[in-house]
Amino acid sequence: MATQEFITHSPEETIALGRTLAAMLTPPKVVLLRGDLGAGKTTLVKGIAEAFHASSADDVTSPTFTLIHEYGNGRVYHIDLYRLDTPAQVATLGLDEIFDREAVVLIEWGEKFTKLMPEGKIEIHLDSGGPDPDTRQITIG
Ligand SMILES: Nc1ncnc2c1ncn2[C@@H]1O[C@H](COP(=O)(O)OP(=O)(O)O)[C@@H](O)[C@H]1O
Ligand SMILES: [Mg+2]
Repeated sequence: MATQEFITHSPEETIALGRTLAAMLTPPKVVLLRGDLGAGKTTLVKGIAEAFHASSADDVTSPTFTLIHEYGNGRVYHIDLYRLDTPAQVATLGLDEIFDREAVVLIEWGEKFTKLMPEGKIEIHLDSGGPDPDTRQITIG
């Protein structure tokens, strides 16, 4: 996939971009969402989940503590591995079984456990490092 780059200037624009990017995500698909805390990973998931008619944006919340959220009867999974430290902890989640499903699986902090991520995954990078606090550079592919 050729790399595509986008700039958003507000959370609403990032949600809208998530709706657009969803067209590029044909299930089964695993997507690593990469970027610092507050970069907008969870915000982007709101738009993706909406596009799959899996959830309203407001009902998508961070799975920081719950680790896995499932939306739309398993059409979309949203996983956050930030709080996990070891592959053994990740193994308890049964991710392989989720990866086998006909779903779009969106993972925050999956790059901490590269060996446990499936082949064929794609990556979306979110960068909040610019001078404007509300600007995000979002790269897919
Ligand atoms: N352009 C933007 N896109 C996404 N979030 C933004 C943007 N500008 C400001 N924000 C704010 O940045 C934060 C992003 O939070 P969140 O999506 O939970 O990040 P992450 O999941 O990467 O930790 C929110 O508080 C949001 O309001
Ligand atoms: Mg998040």
